[in-house]
Amino acid sequence: MLHRFAKWFINIPIVWNTFQNVVGANSWKNRIYPSVFKSKGAMLDFGCSMGNNTEAFLQFKYHGVDIDRAAIEAAKKRWAGTPDVSFESLDILKHPYMHNYFDNVLFAGTGHHLTDEEIPHILDALLLTLHPGGELHFFDVLRQPGKDRFITRIIMNNDQGKNMRTREMYRAMFAPYNVVEEKVFESPDRFIKLQDMLYFRVGKN
Ligand SMILES: C[S@@+](CC[C@H](N)C(=O)[O-])C[C@H]1O[C@@H](n2cnc3c(N)ncnc32)[C@H](O)[C@@H]1O
Repeated sequence: MLHRFAKWFINIPIVWNTFQNVVGANSWKNRIYPSVFKSKGAMLDFGCSMGNNTEAFLQFKYHGVDIDRAAIEAAKKRWAGTPDVSFESLDILKHPYMHNYFDNVLFAGTGHHLTDEEIPHILDALLLTLHPGGELHFFDVLRQPGKDRFITRIIMNNDQGKNMRTREMYRAMFAPYNVVEEKVFESPDRFIKLQDMLYFRVGKN
């Protein structure tokens, strides 16, 4: 009962976001996410939550989407009046979205919330939104048996995302796509070590 309450509490977006700020995860993400972008221009942040990483992309024409309406309302309030920043609540699988429009798509921190069946459908839908030559940037936390520390495993086991995967699992899932770069970003080693992050740069065929 207590465990279920703690799990529910930590996964409220504002609580989770505060925790992420305290352990330095948001500032780390704000460094690594934009570091892989080769061009500015129009970008889609898929699974943007409350606009957690919007500040890293204020030089872009930024559009954030998330299925969670409350998180999108909070993001709209937080970034109201900021030029070239917009948000929308939607399920990309149910609503066909703009085709050939974005230069970059960020698909970050959301893979472990999605099933093996959902990810390819979402990738297909997101790749359609890119114009030819555009790139999709996939980041997600990794399960690394033998490497993850005790505290890292506790965080992982209490995350709302139920689909933590290994690098090999993601490689198999992305095999049909045009992955042009793969890399692992080591998480900061403060008093709490979060999971490392896998990155795939995916080109539009
Ligand atoms: C952990 S947050 C990631 C936030 C941020 N992108 C990051 O890297 O920290 C995952 C987000 O994915 C969203 N999400 C899950 N399934 C989705 C879907 N089908 N369409 C849009 N957003 C989705 C959730 O609502 C949640 O806000």
